[in-house]
Amino acid sequence: MNTVFSGIQPSGLVHLGNLLGAINNWAKLSNEDSKNYFCIVDLHSLTAMPNKSDLKSSIKDTLKVLLASGINLENSVIYVQSTLKEHAYLSWILSNFCQVGELQRMTQFKEKASSFGTHSGLLTYPILMAADILIHKANEVPVGDDQTQHLELTRNIAERFNNNYGEIFPIPEKTSGKYGTRLMSLRHPENKMSKSSDDINGTIYFNDSKDVIIKKFKSSVTDSSNSISYDVKSKPGISNLIEIYSSIKNLEIKKTEEKFNDYQYGEFKVEVAETVISYLEPINDKFNNLGDKEVDEIIRNNLELARKSAQLTISEVENALGIN
Ligand code: TYM
Repeated sequence: MNTVFSGIQPSGLVHLGNLLGAINNWAKLSNEDSKNYFCIVDLHSLTAMPNKSDLKSSIKDTLKVLLASGINLENSVIYVQSTLKEHAYLSWILSNFCQVGELQRMTQFKEKASSFGTHSGLLTYPILMAADILIHKANEVPVGDDQTQHLELTRNIAERFNNNYGEIFPIPEKTSGKYGTRLMSLRHPENKMSKSSDDINGTIYFNDSKDVIIKKFKSSVTDSSNSISYDVKSKPGISNLIEIYSSIKNLEIKKTEEKFNDYQYGEFKVEVAETVISYLEPINDKFNNLGDKEVDEIIRNNLELARKSAQLTISEVENALGIN
């Protein structure tokens, strides 16, 4: 049986990229025959030095989005990283299997170091990520494209540990959906859609109102050719909209192109906006109906399951290393 792990930072409102690039696939996998761990990785968010109350509410909201996203809790454990100290413990152990040069070469480190200053948390971030994945011996990691490099490093770290101390860890594989693995900003389609973009009109947040969603899509940047065809290089804006539609409708890109063949850009934008609204509606309904008590109870039960799994791995790792 596959063991799946993935995580999301509570660093602001969940956006459409998070949902289509990652959380949607978590929900799909959770209805298959696998054991799943989905984690709000709050320790990772500390690298951006968040304000205390923002972080608190972000942790709670992100948790609620996961609970509202259709993840099947029968075989999935949803928990908050900082409540399971074993993540940080394993991260220290694994840091001995990773070169400083490798960390310095990470694209996200280079990007983030320029905005947050170069503290060592930003540098060692991918080792904590490796620990997240390996603590439950996950062999499958559903993530968007921006996490590919971090996952490669996780595989190297696991292999090095195994070569030195015996076959403890599986070598995890990245998985992703067919479409939506790298959604771009609606306003700057050459940049990734992100929580903290300079232009918030380029990002669709999970709880944007219908009017706001329509407005954002109407003002999305396209091109002057008025042909609804997929070509990321020369038509990044329209290709992004095609990708959003195909991802939500589970439709081949070709079929989406055919369907909208004789549409004007303006009509197509509204149709994509309406598709997004229908997709987000049930998530918001569930989100708004989740009571604090219900959330707290799920969290308590899930943490126990996560702890059991993490402690088993830690015992094996300690035995292999000859410590404790
Ligand atoms: P984070 O919090 O930035 O994003 C959470 C998930 O959303 C995906 N994603 C996107 N997918 C498509 N298009 C986009 N524009 C887009 N933006 C974000 C991300 O690929 C991710 O899957 N380092 C991770 C969190 C993490 C993690 C882990 C993930 C920590 N430990 C262990 C997997 C396994 C991050 O910052 O994701």
